[in-house]
Amino acid sequence: MSVDLLRSALPDSADDSLSRAIGHPRLRGAAADALAAARARPTLAGPTLARWFRQARQLGSKERPIVQEAVFGVLRHQALLERAGARTAVEAVDAWARLVGGERFDALQSEGPVADLATALSLPQAIAAEWLEALGAQEAAALAGAFSGRAPLCIRVNRARIDRDALARRLLAEGVQTDPSALAPDGLLLRRRVNLPELGSWREGLFEVQDEASQLLIDAIPLEPGQRVLDLCAGGGGKSLGLAARGARVRAWDSRPDALRRLVERSRRAGAAVSVGEPRPAPVVLVDAPCSGIGRLRRDPALRLGLDPSRHLAAQAELLALGASLVEPGGLLVYATCSLLQVENEAPAPIFGWGEVERRWLWPQREGTDGFFWAIWRAP
Ligand SMILES: C[S@@+](CC[C@H](N)C(=O)[O-])C[C@H]1O[C@@H](n2cnc3c(N)ncnc32)[C@H](O)[C@@H]1O
Repeated sequence: MSVDLLRSALPDSADDSLSRAIGHPRLRGAAADALAAARARPTLAGPTLARWFRQARQLGSKERPIVQEAVFGVLRHQALLERAGARTAVEAVDAWARLVGGERFDALQSEGPVADLATALSLPQAIAAEWLEALGAQEAAALAGAFSGRAPLCIRVNRARIDRDALARRLLAEGVQTDPSALAPDGLLLRRRVNLPELGSWREGLFEVQDEASQLLIDAIPLEPGQRVLDLCAGGGGKSLGLAARGARVRAWDSRPDALRRLVERSRRAGAAVSVGEPRPAPVVLVDAPCSGIGRLRRDPALRLGLDPSRHLAAQAELLALGASLVEPGGLLVYATCSLLQVENEAPAPIFGWGEVERRWLWPQREGTDGFFWAIWRAP
């Protein structure tokens, strides 16, 4: 059976009321303004949009989500909308309104599997070609569909303080309904968005927001009780806190001091054994490397604007080499990215003489998580 790759990211059902709502000239104009702001700063499109929406006081509380849907919808489907003739931001919003209203763009002809998949994903053809080769047409179409959906809001139960069932009951008492995540044993999926700082359970450090993929990595690292771990790219501390909740004593480092300050605050709230300091040798070293972030496209559709898979390659190689130099004899080196690209995942070569413990790709259309990769090697 042939697969219609070109239409593989289109929604399964129409939403007429959303389609009509964005037709209002003021809302359509607001969406076009937001898109222009994002396109003016492609590598910072996500934060630029977040700021634009924070400052958009002309939008009422019911209007803002409509404009957000339109902006992120155009970003998800922009290549298809352009192929359908949209030239300006306003035309793209109009074409997206038709898409949401159920239009299938039947007049568009196939230009071949790679071009069609690239259009569906709104990504470069080289990336479409790689995924088509790796997954086959059927699964590549499922990936395009998964990437055009919304990411669930997932939290990680702080198992040092509470178990998953008890937290689910506590959250329910606070008016928040959850479902256990399918794969990660400490994950809960929130059924609706909530303002977390309003929750007592959040202020008490009973959970952290964390995608299931990152939780699965934390669980995959073979740790001994109380083991020292160096988290070389700790950022705001998502992995550090998860490892500490598993009983590790974590030393966290990152090149961004502001991220480390946030980490300190979070680990205080979670009561986690995480200290911050310059990298030092440890039996387990985690390199959660800077990357294109392409595995997070569901969460951040604006990533497409500034996408450059080669941008972090030098840093990835350097951090991997530094990480390897800091692993104590017989210890583990863990390399992770939220990328689904060979060049960022497989290219950083394992070190000669080290044994590979595990290598795993997580795909949104398979595992339902963000796209993610890790490799674990044991030092001689
Ligand atoms: C994928 S993010 C880390 C996310 C974090 N581990 C978490 O779980 O929340 C990659 C991090 O690498 C950091 N980074 C980039 N270059 C670095 C370097 N040379 N040394 C240390 N950290 C670096 C970035 O500041 C960024 O926080």
